[in-house]
Amino acid sequence: MIGLGTMGRNLVLNISDHGYSVAGFDKNAAQVELLKKDSGDRNLFTTSALEEFVNALKAPRVILLLVPAGKIVDEVIQELKPLLSGDDLLMDCGNSHFTDTNTRIEELAKSGIHFMGVGISGGESGARYGPSIMPGGPKDIYKHVAPMLESISAKVKEEPCVTWLGVGSAGHYVKMVHNGIEYGLMQLISEAYHLLKVAGRMNNDELHDVFSEWNNGMLHSFLIEITADIFAQKDELTSNSLVDMILDSAHQKGTGGWTSQDAMKLQVPIPVIDIAVSMRDLSAFKKEREAAQQKLEGPGYKFEEDKKALVSWLEQALYFSMITTYAQGMSLLHYASKEYKYDLKLENIASIWRGGCIIRSSLLDDIKSTFSRQSDLSNIVTDDGIGQKLMQSQIAIRKIVQIAVDTGIPVPALMGSLAYYDSYRSGWLPANLIQAQRDYFGAHTYERNDREGTFHTKWNHENE
Ligand code: 3PG
Repeated sequence: MIGLGTMGRNLVLNISDHGYSVAGFDKNAAQVELLKKDSGDRNLFTTSALEEFVNALKAPRVILLLVPAGKIVDEVIQELKPLLSGDDLLMDCGNSHFTDTNTRIEELAKSGIHFMGVGISGGESGARYGPSIMPGGPKDIYKHVAPMLESISAKVKEEPCVTWLGVGSAGHYVKMVHNGIEYGLMQLISEAYHLLKVAGRMNNDELHDVFSEWNNGMLHSFLIEITADIFAQKDELTSNSLVDMILDSAHQKGTGGWTSQDAMKLQVPIPVIDIAVSMRDLSAFKKEREAAQQKLEGPGYKFEEDKKALVSWLEQALYFSMITTYAQGMSLLHYASKEYKYDLKLENIASIWRGGCIIRSSLLDDIKSTFSRQSDLSNIVTDDGIGQKLMQSQIAIRKIVQIAVDTGIPVPALMGSLAYYDSYRSGWLPANLIQAQRDYFGAHTYERNDREGTFHTKWNHENE
């Protein structure tokens, strides 16, 4: 393992627990010391000398990289390359951009070194006790590391949350979309919090109870579970709830934005994920928001209806919008798989996301079985079972969006999810007018709905 930060260190311990002999390297001696301290009486080889590390490995070597994505990955590869031999395998387990992974595969292939892009999700405890692992690269090479990855991964009903996903950068692409979905779900949950806190005037104890209750029902998922916990956490520095002491300005490392960028490139709509990225951006404009608050008023309407009804509508609204968020991510994977020739099996992806990762949820059981019946489905909303669930919960999300509009509480992801549903189920959309406008001002031409061909009209202004 190269890189003994939180993820690397915990993965080393996990791998070692499963009977594999493992060596750890980090340039930073303090990180090496941390691993030594955690390793108890395990027989680990640790060092902050790269050559010593490489020489300690039996050829062909299997080296996992867990270093920050970007330039550092290339720097490590450059230092490592002269020390490696043909047939060694490098597995980049960080959140590298999939296009970088493609470049690295090609570069290293020239020296006969195999390179795999491997997504890992589950945070610190996932790394330690069982993450969801998303490997991509040459299938015949994957076979050599499959037993190790299967043993350290999370299990759902004894099935390991890892499988080979596809060639090239498939693993990193799938991890990127996983994170995009994660951004969408987190934004939706934060909007539900906003409505419950402001419209429902609930305190953190009540919020804890609501989220705990939700986690026992149809919203059962890791993110709902940790949200319930968060509301119960007290601050160590004051007597307040910790959540109330955290600055409302969200950070990001980029994977959500990359998902949106690639979806736009491929022209696949994923509005909930786009909105989630924009809302993190907007949250960071804290000073501007505070200034605007002094000037701009909302509708001044207060929600006076039954709190219990609000909670119940919101539960269904979240269910509806979480389905559409997974639907958008899956639809992107469907089209990206064709474009990049990954040949992804969406059933397998839903399956390995059911345990260990941040977006694990009971909804993924339904999504997995949908793809087991229709492996090439471009959008799960048209599956009979999933469509039924959306139709049943649509009244609730419409009600919630209405409350948000009336009270002036921003819920763009919930709104975006509903609008996505309403647009996707519309056989006709007003895009004919957009085409007419494009042709009017730019002679961009249009197609007709009654005959083949491309048309341009001399619109009124041209006759003036
Ligand atoms: C990760 O993969 O590091 C996180 O799940 C997402 O990170 P971010 O919210 O900092 O972008």
